[in-house]
Amino acid sequence: MANIILGIESSCDDTSAAIIKDCVLMSNVIASQKVHEDYGGVVPELASRAHQQNIVPVVSEAIRKAGINKADIDAIAFTRGPGLLGSLLVGTSFAKGLALALDKPIVDVNHLHGHVLSHFIKEDENTVTPDFPFLCLLISGGNSQIIKVNSPYDMEILGQTIDDAAGEAFDKCAKVMGLPYPGGPFIDRLAAEGDPKRFKFSKPHIEGLNYSFSGLKTSFLYTLRDELKSNPNFIEENKADLAASLQATIIAILMDKLDKAVKLTGIGQIAIGGGVSANSGVRNAIQHYCDVHHLKAFIPKRLFTTDNAAMIAVAGHFKFIKKDFCSFSDVPFARVTV
Ligand code: KG4
Repeated sequence: MANIILGIESSCDDTSAAIIKDCVLMSNVIASQKVHEDYGGVVPELASRAHQQNIVPVVSEAIRKAGINKADIDAIAFTRGPGLLGSLLVGTSFAKGLALALDKPIVDVNHLHGHVLSHFIKEDENTVTPDFPFLCLLISGGNSQIIKVNSPYDMEILGQTIDDAAGEAFDKCAKVMGLPYPGGPFIDRLAAEGDPKRFKFSKPHIEGLNYSFSGLKTSFLYTLRDELKSNPNFIEENKADLAASLQATIIAILMDKLDKAVKLTGIGQIAIGGGVSANSGVRNAIQHYCDVHHLKAFIPKRLFTTDNAAMIAVAGHFKFIKKDFCSFSDVPFARVTV
């Protein structure tokens, strides 16, 4: 019998619900919250309220689009953390309430596992998925990790950031350039028009497979500060070159440690996940690296790079088949690693 899982994601500022049938996607509905745009970042209180408004229509729409009845659902998977506690509480409470009403089990999902396992979302029966083990470069607003994925249940962090995440480097530098939040996609678009070699920003010298992005951020800020002294229009006149050079430096930092991880493990399948994996430069760099080294690249559709419930449903599916359910007294957690 095929398993039908309802996934619910509410860890940050996207309310999402998805239905999968044995990992084949039947629906994936995402309501993004526009309310934060004026604030230059996600406002937790406003995010929780928007989740409250969105969750019933989003789940109803996911069920309707999948063409199933509520009673067909075998389990409800929800993001338990990491994320904003108020936002997580909305999804967790809703999942529990619906599960009680339908008399179905609930499965708690680590949001980061969701990003890693997004490569198992099947759009149809022919979707190619990675074999285990594979390496996953998980790059988002809050994380930058190289993970050795031994199985859906066994993930080892080989390296991670010791300060800012790659997404923070994009967003914080974009903010000082006066770009809207989150700045990553704006840098991506500007970078396409600019010269990536025009500016040199500092790269970290850290042993092993760990990342650091705070030095890059500081060197970016110092460049702007120095140049603005003699030319108040410096940012406006050079924004494409600034974006291209910043993006190229972030990519170089990411690829340097990924290359080390490949050499260290000898693993030939490389996946990327998380919001920053939507970046055109990152996607091209991974594909190019894999082509040159005869490795297999797994680059998710942009839709599955940012927060979505399809990946939560898939991660839930793997726990469901092991009957790894959670208790109705379990609570969300704001912080957790893979
Ligand atoms: O995974 P995600 O949606 O949220 C979490 O952190 O959980 O990632 C959001 C991050 C933000 O920092 C955003 O700027 C970045 O992903 N991002 C991008 C792009 N699209 C989203 N960064 C660079 N280029 C993009 N195209």
